[in-house]
Amino acid sequence: MIQARLLEQFKDYYRIYGRLFSSPGRINLVGEHTDYNEGFVMPTITDQQFYVVMAKHGGLDPFPVIRIFSPQFNETVEFDLFNPPKKQWALYFYGVIKEMKKRGEEIQSVDLLIHSDIPTGAGMSSSAALCVAFAKGLNSLFNLGFAPLDLALIAQATEHNYIGVQCGLMDQMASLFGKKDHFMKLDCRTYDFEQIPFDFSDLSIVLFNSRVKHNLASSEYNLRRASCERVVGIISQKKEGVTALRDLSLDDLSQFKALIDPIDYMRAEYVLEENDRVHQMVDAIKAKNLPLMGKLMAASHLGLKEKYEVSCPELDFLVDSANNTPGIVGARMMGGGFGGCTINLVENAQKEQFVEEMTIKFEKKYLKTALYYVTTREK
Ligand code: GLA
Repeated sequence: MIQARLLEQFKDYYRIYGRLFSSPGRINLVGEHTDYNEGFVMPTITDQQFYVVMAKHGGLDPFPVIRIFSPQFNETVEFDLFNPPKKQWALYFYGVIKEMKKRGEEIQSVDLLIHSDIPTGAGMSSSAALCVAFAKGLNSLFNLGFAPLDLALIAQATEHNYIGVQCGLMDQMASLFGKKDHFMKLDCRTYDFEQIPFDFSDLSIVLFNSRVKHNLASSEYNLRRASCERVVGIISQKKEGVTALRDLSLDDLSQFKALIDPIDYMRAEYVLEENDRVHQMVDAIKAKNLPLMGKLMAASHLGLKEKYEVSCPELDFLVDSANNTPGIVGARMMGGGFGGCTINLVENAQKEQFVEEMTIKFEKKYLKTALYYVTTREK
């Protein structure tokens, strides 16, 4: 068991016992780039997790020190709260603590051992899982009393204020509240959610990792968000009660077309259409309407590619190939975009053959292997 091994490694390294916390990554069926527009999303959790073993280190200290050991990468980092660490990945830990301190909590020195089997840059929210796992750990170790939603907001603020990605709250909420064999229909305005059973024993969720990690991802992400906010800024001056794209219908939007930059308009149109697709997907799942589920995924991919312009050739190739491979029910790119994974719903009976054919097609075109992950069902 990985958990037992990590606890053992912690004890060997720090010579004290630690406690283990973990959080999963997230998958999203449909509803991409809708979360920061206060719309709806449909995530669930990955099998893969981020793990952190933690123990307090010493007593009250005016200069708390954080020590992190990663046996996986054979790396150690040590920093205090007055000097941010140089390594980008360690900034997430720094950020979570700073965000907790902002909310009035005192954190003391702490020792960590970390491990993750969530691939990074794969659109599976490895960073949200890290922040959530660490935040859960601090909350418990120091009895801070944060509610789960606070932890999600702390993890999100870490991305905003220390990493520079103006992300929504989907990933953090999925990591905290996601449930196997369910997709959560999450309202990103109220943070209410409904767990929709994904009760298809003859279907598998298969992710293909394009293995493209674009450094455009965060800058372009913020630009997309800014486009959406500009549209809201213009329309809110003309129409009452509009504080997010969520408040508009496609008809409302079209009335203001002349006032809006054409690119921003196209982005907003995508968001409104995608938001509608989430509602339609819930109905399609409840009605077990596989053709409609596939159609909605295809439309989502097309919108992300052509209107939101966050896809890339490798993702398009994976989606096109999937749609031409027996066994496919639906395929689309997943997550922020510019690389990462596609999500595929595949008939179990054809799964092995599907994965094999897809792997061959991708290898032939890009001379590298598209890694894949199959989500297991709860036993
Ligand atoms: C990233 C962000 C999320 C969300 C998705 C796109 O994963 O962290 O908040 O916006 O992209 O749907």
